[in-house]
Amino acid sequence: MLVSGAKEPLRGSVTVPGDKSISHRVVMLGAIADGVTEATGFLPSEDALSTIRCFRQMGVQIEQADTHVRVAGVGLHGLKTPLADLDAGNSGTTMRLLAGLLSGQVFGVTITGDASLCKRPMRRVADPLKKMGADIHLQDNGCAPLHICPVAKLRGIDYDMPVASAQVKSALLLAGLYADEPVVVREPVPSRDHSENMLRAFGADLTVENGVIRLVPGKRLTGMTLTVPGDISSAAFVLAAAAMVPGSDVTVKNVGVNPTRTGILDVLAAMGAKITLENRRTECGEARADIRLEHRPLKGVTISGELIPRLVDELPVLAFVAAVAEGKTVIADAGELRVKESDRLSMMAKGLAAFGASFEELPDGMIINGKPGLLTAPAQVMDPAGDHRMAMAFSVAALATAGTLRLADAACVAVSYPSFFRTLAELGAVVTAEEE
Ligand code: S3P
Repeated sequence: MLVSGAKEPLRGSVTVPGDKSISHRVVMLGAIADGVTEATGFLPSEDALSTIRCFRQMGVQIEQADTHVRVAGVGLHGLKTPLADLDAGNSGTTMRLLAGLLSGQVFGVTITGDASLCKRPMRRVADPLKKMGADIHLQDNGCAPLHICPVAKLRGIDYDMPVASAQVKSALLLAGLYADEPVVVREPVPSRDHSENMLRAFGADLTVENGVIRLVPGKRLTGMTLTVPGDISSAAFVLAAAAMVPGSDVTVKNVGVNPTRTGILDVLAAMGAKITLENRRTECGEARADIRLEHRPLKGVTISGELIPRLVDELPVLAFVAAVAEGKTVIADAGELRVKESDRLSMMAKGLAAFGASFEELPDGMIINGKPGLLTAPAQVMDPAGDHRMAMAFSVAALATAGTLRLADAACVAVSYPSFFRTLAELGAVVTAEEE
């Protein structure tokens, strides 16, 4: 794919695909609920389709056409033994949440994934599940494939999570549906709370008090109808592009603005971009709005602590925004980036170097010495190492150059945002497909 520097400001109003986290959970909770769950705005990307495939293998009838999905729930105890291993593809959410959901079943199962997913840490989810009585086995390096053997019943757990991870938290809550005692989870820093919101909406007995999440088993789930909002993690690329290209004024319509996800808006505003939320509303317990970003001169900021889980997937693109802001941006407490779809800190460093930015990579973050003006289009073909968010971050950076980026493996954006390049073109960017 060729992405050229923007000759004109980016302008217009676009929509982005449905929220990935919510789309996974629609299928998972819908599958183990009683009755039908129907959603519009569903994300038809590779990750969400991996989740659908896994549940179909366990006997759940799921009809999906573009952004509409209908899940015929089989109830908490209605999943069938899959005839083959479950393949989570590139999706950490599929693998980790399934590990929890399947730990209390009466059948055994193996969950595998692609080369990137089979390098990601799974002890963080297997260890607490074992404390609940799960019989779960990993490879010696603590990674997938993971094997789960059936157990008679899971115990409850009172767990202080060592890392802020919505995936681990969600796995424990899903396992809790199959336990005979409550599951109590405390996070070091709050992470996205879609599982809590949705479990409650589906009828689970779940409370959150002073940051302590408590699920009491015994309630069945009931299918529901919902509309998935646009994914703020996809909108982030459009907003970052507009923040970087002078004169831009873009609106992304119908985006989920759940406060556990809006760190990107807080940071872009603190950097100086003008952000306005219009049409604010709440549907199915999730806040939504149209987000307008008008370009303004940017300055460096510090991104650390409680902010990190609220923008964890947006840091790759924020690094490039920081590179064209005036002064120093510090990213700290972000060691989790090393175990995402790629080692994102190292990929961000590779990208910043290729685009001519001044920075220093740290074990858990980086310092970026920003300078307003153009980045340099890399001379070499940029390879995102199969990481969708790196591919999109490099593409956004290319808009702030006077040259053209040649991006390898551009197709990997389909993991979360299949229409990404089309949206860039809608805003006026010059994007050209080439034979790969
Ligand atoms: C997700 C949680 C986050 C995020 C991922 C989706 C989820 O991962 O990076 O893209 O849907 O729960 P962690 O919870 O492991 O940080």
